[in-house]
Amino acid sequence: MREMTLEEKIGQLNQVGASIYGTTDESGYEEMAREGRAGSFLSLHDPERCNKLQRIAVEESRLGIPLIFAEDVIHGLKTVFPIPLAESCSFEPELARKTAEIAADEASACGVKWVFAPMTDIARDARWGRIAEGAGEDPYIGSLFAAARVKGFQGSGNIDEKHVAACVKHFACYGAAESGKDYNTVQLSDNNLYNAYLPPYKAAVDAGVFTVMTAFNDLNGTPCTVNAPLIDGVLRKLWGFRGVVVSDWAAVAEAEYHGYCENREDCAAEAAKAGVTVDMMGHAYDTFLLSLAKKNKKIQKRIDELCEQVLTLKYRLGLFKRPYADLSRGKDLYTREKLDVALEAAQKAIVLLKNDGTLPLKRGEKVLVLGKLAADKRTMMGCWCFPETQESTIDVLSGIREKFSADYADSADFLADVSSGDTNGYGAIICVVGETNRESGEAASRAFIGLKDEDVAMIRAAKKTGLPVVALILSGRPLALSAINSDVNALAECWHLGSVGGRAIANVLCGDFAPEGRLTASFPRETGQCPVYYSHFNTGRPYIAGQGCRCKFRDCEEGALYPFGYGLTFTKFGYSDLRAEKTKIGKGDKIEISVRVTNIGERDGAEIVQAYFRQNSCKPIRPVKSLVAFEKVRLRAGESKTVKFVLDPDRLGIIRTAALQPERAKGRCEAYVGANSEDCQKINLTIE
Ligand code: NOJ
Repeated sequence: MREMTLEEKIGQLNQVGASIYGTTDESGYEEMAREGRAGSFLSLHDPERCNKLQRIAVEESRLGIPLIFAEDVIHGLKTVFPIPLAESCSFEPELARKTAEIAADEASACGVKWVFAPMTDIARDARWGRIAEGAGEDPYIGSLFAAARVKGFQGSGNIDEKHVAACVKHFACYGAAESGKDYNTVQLSDNNLYNAYLPPYKAAVDAGVFTVMTAFNDLNGTPCTVNAPLIDGVLRKLWGFRGVVVSDWAAVAEAEYHGYCENREDCAAEAAKAGVTVDMMGHAYDTFLLSLAKKNKKIQKRIDELCEQVLTLKYRLGLFKRPYADLSRGKDLYTREKLDVALEAAQKAIVLLKNDGTLPLKRGEKVLVLGKLAADKRTMMGCWCFPETQESTIDVLSGIREKFSADYADSADFLADVSSGDTNGYGAIICVVGETNRESGEAASRAFIGLKDEDVAMIRAAKKTGLPVVALILSGRPLALSAINSDVNALAECWHLGSVGGRAIANVLCGDFAPEGRLTASFPRETGQCPVYYSHFNTGRPYIAGQGCRCKFRDCEEGALYPFGYGLTFTKFGYSDLRAEKTKIGKGDKIEISVRVTNIGERDGAEIVQAYFRQNSCKPIRPVKSLVAFEKVRLRAGESKTVKFVLDPDRLGIIRTAALQPERAKGRCEAYVGANSEDCQKINLTIE
């Protein structure tokens, strides 16, 4: 750093995106690399192009400082995994670690050493399109998946050839965007901030994440990207984060539009003061930091600190020793082994919501598949992925054709057939409906999250045939499914499942894989209920069926259509002998609860036994339930297992400060154990 000019230091803080230069003319990039005016580039993952630019930075720039190439590898690069929301329905953080590790392997083979994932925003409003990118509504699940994904991307210690720097985002609380509208303001009480929204980011920091991305939104009036108490205070001082903080795209400059900063120069000064290391595409740092630093010694010192963070990241990534992508690793992309993991993740992500015994279907049976989405490979790939492997992606129809004899029609063709009464010997009609990948993800908030009219009409017409109707929902968010719920014999949430999604779905349909996913985000009945989430406050007038002035809607049944934690399989489980070792918990005691779970059906299956907790009488209030533990058990038909949870009351109480240390839960408390957030049994506890 002693050899660097101020301009070169500022260059390290500047991140430039491919889309401004287009794909053919790279002269702008090359000049910036040669002159040290950019420290990193985003949206590039062609290893030859990366190497070409890197060679210019290393061999032709004055100090030879390597570049970092960054990319949005959210759920895989060549091998595409289920969208993160779907993957979290496995309740298996270890699986998410594995898929992140494969994504890192492929990214680094392509020259990318920094991925903008995991997204750990708690999302409770299904109208928000970006709910697809996180682990759903719950802070406990969110924290487990955040840590697992960081470990998968980064490996342990410094980064080797096959790992990359992760980036936890969007700091903070982007998922609480008002009315689920993307980029919208976020207004949160301390209670919600500390207990629900901040924990997953901290879990990523504790897992050693190298970088953090600021959120677009303001948080209680201060845009996150110029929010010194949040970045410098909470993230760096309180949580001990020492790495790189990157703004979201142009977010430094947007502090002016928020009405917080006077102009772009002011934005640059405020973001630097707040501790934002890298300005992604805001062009505020490269335009204004030099003149600001000349006027203000403090800014000069801050630039040194920030530049050191970037250089440290480059060292930790091994870029000074190995700046180039190893082109021979191209053969390790999209391999059979990687696709096998994608299949495992896709199968475990599917959540069976309803089944009257129609599923599993007989393998080889003749079925009619309906709906445009059935043959839409791009949709199967999800909201954040690259088109390179689109052609070989297995859509629903191709997956079904591996296991069944299937005819296919879009709704219009089919309706004509129905009116002539011809069901052609089909064993079932499979309707594939939902939303496309373009209707999910960034800038895809929706004010109506029910099924489209033509999809509802198609399902109703299918029902009229008298054949069993199976609805497969492809979506990046919980949709409001009331309109068709009672018209179908079986209903499965199949999300956007990635490279081999269609095969995973067919395996479930024919019973080769018994579904085991459980929802990590509640499904509303109607859009107008949003946000719907299980861990809400009780209010002074909780809902009681049949009573008037209660917390409810007049025109919609209360609660989720399918709640958090819910999911079926091809067998059933019985719960018995719920007991607590003690119900009066003294100092030094743990809460020990056990329950006997029995597979009472005729097939083997997996159950996710869930434990929830509530503290009554707390100032401020606590939610009606919070997930505190779970265990996935696999039981043969007829088999039983006693599942035991040991909970520490010192870790179950309210969190009152941004340090995020829970208090001891005291007083009248309730522990719940069961199959989902609604279907569970209660034990009353008194905790000293
Ligand atoms: C905007 C998105 O909010 C963020 O998640 C992403 O990483 C950046 N753009 C870079 O593409």
